[in-house]
Amino acid sequence: MYILGISCYYHDAAAALLKDGELIAAAEEERFTRIKHDYDFPDNAINFCLDYAGISGNDLDYVVFYEKPFHKFERILMTSFQCFPKSWNVFREAMMTWLSDKLWVKNTIEQRIGIEHDKILFGEHHLSHAASAFYPSSFEEAAILTVDGVGEWTTTTMGTGKGTHIQLRKEIKFPHSLGLLYSAFTAFLGFKVNEGEYKVMGMAPYGKPAYVDKIYDNLIKVADDGSFWIDMDYFSYHYSDKETFNSKFEDLFGKPRMPEMHFFTSNTRFPSYFGEKPTNYGELCQENEHYADIAASIQRVTEEVLLKLVNSLHKETGLKRLCIAGGVGLNSAANGRILRETPFEELFIQPSAGDGGGALGAALHAYHGLLGKPRTFVLEHAYWGKEYSENEIKEFLDSNNISYEYFSDDEKLLDRVVDDLVAGKVVGWFQGRFEWGPRALGNRSILADPRSEEMKDLVNVKIKFREPFRPFAPVIPEENTGDFFYDGDAAAKQFPARYMLLVLPLKENKAETISAVNHMGTGRLQTIRDEWNPRYYRVVKKFGEATGVPVLLNTSFNLRGEPIVASPANAFNTFSKSGIDVLVLENFMIEK
Ligand SMILES: [Fe+2]
Repeated sequence: MYILGISCYYHDAAAALLKDGELIAAAEEERFTRIKHDYDFPDNAINFCLDYAGISGNDLDYVVFYEKPFHKFERILMTSFQCFPKSWNVFREAMMTWLSDKLWVKNTIEQRIGIEHDKILFGEHHLSHAASAFYPSSFEEAAILTVDGVGEWTTTTMGTGKGTHIQLRKEIKFPHSLGLLYSAFTAFLGFKVNEGEYKVMGMAPYGKPAYVDKIYDNLIKVADDGSFWIDMDYFSYHYSDKETFNSKFEDLFGKPRMPEMHFFTSNTRFPSYFGEKPTNYGELCQENEHYADIAASIQRVTEEVLLKLVNSLHKETGLKRLCIAGGVGLNSAANGRILRETPFEELFIQPSAGDGGGALGAALHAYHGLLGKPRTFVLEHAYWGKEYSENEIKEFLDSNNISYEYFSDDEKLLDRVVDDLVAGKVVGWFQGRFEWGPRALGNRSILADPRSEEMKDLVNVKIKFREPFRPFAPVIPEENTGDFFYDGDAAAKQFPARYMLLVLPLKENKAETISAVNHMGTGRLQTIRDEWNPRYYRVVKKFGEATGVPVLLNTSFNLRGEPIVASPANAFNTFSKSGIDVLVLENFMIEK
């Protein structure tokens, strides 16, 4: 039995295909179209899934859309009416896009996939999130928390899963949304909503949470059980499609940060790639510290609300295991605190915890929740995207007259890569199927030596030109995690660690050892095990044998503002346009 899940038209569009309840292929549309966070109908991701299975659309038993478009449209219309005339633009835009396109997704699915009308099903947005978190976990029974910007009406749910049954017991509805509150601060701090949230999280450790009281006194009221109410007087996301906060919000926090303003504080140093140090450096540092304080404050409030929600969920259910989904589930700093500070002993979050993951959840909900089929599948890794054969790679290289070295012996290739890394070279690493979700986890990664602080600047100059508050992640074998991180041994056994969804404090005596991946005393680590990705594991282990440090810097293989590479052509293009020194495409090595 084949079931295809689809999510699109809001955040990341994606498709996921189940065969007899087991995931066999999943991908976000952006990887194929090269449009970051592409939310259009995911034709390419769907075709990839069908090709992978060797089937066509009419072989599918069901196609499941991840939310109910009419309910979502109802929320947009009702909110527009309530906020009229301020909401005129949202209303006009909604009428145009929803009436022409989004409402008729059933027809679009029927036409583009070639499946009969009655085989197309619709899930609910937060039920899709919940299903994406619970069904592929290894837990027979667990508590479930979903938190995002907004689905149809719901922004937060709490419930439980047992066997094939999910029950969502409590919900919080729009406009009261933790995700949209965080996004308003994201916009205020000069970043793009739905994209810059993790930059706010990265900026937070450079500030002091000086505005926490101001946020609680004015913007959000939180009960002991974590349920919350947002004072909409300060926000405009309910009536505007461009602005998320209003002048009253600015009265509280001052003028918003300019998007192009360089971020540096006395703690970040002044990166060489920002050019010459400005004459008013001290003044600019202070200004940036003010914004870092705001980032630290909203991050702290978000963590506190989540901790309250999670604690009350534990109190009500008495369960030891917790599954989280929704965009807020990607807040790896909050996840680290949930794991270390609440009574839950085990945590499951799948790598595409945002709306892209709704495609997986929708399909799983149909299979287990609606059809009642037993669970056999556990999402043990994130490698569900497209793979490119050695023949395809060779053909690409030959037809473009690119010279390369081919290694028939894996070990020899890995030794060469380790030699290059130790020599300070930056390696573009491409192998196997690309990752599901926003993180590069060793199949489309850029790897470098994590031991010197300078490597941060070097990688940024060569590839990313990113702000210094954006952390680089350490990849570390499970068995070595406890040597480097507090609670590392326990955390390494948890799924969020393997999906880079967890921030842990670095042990003080190791902070210097891996300073390129030290983010103000913490690391957003990825743990690995031989069985999930032997080649990637081997390269980290071999680096450890050569240097005594079994850790590599892993960052996503893409240029700033572009999606992570998918094909050999994308990878070579990024390699040529950047300062990456060595490109490894499976067993082919290309050097500059
Ligand atoms: Fe969502």
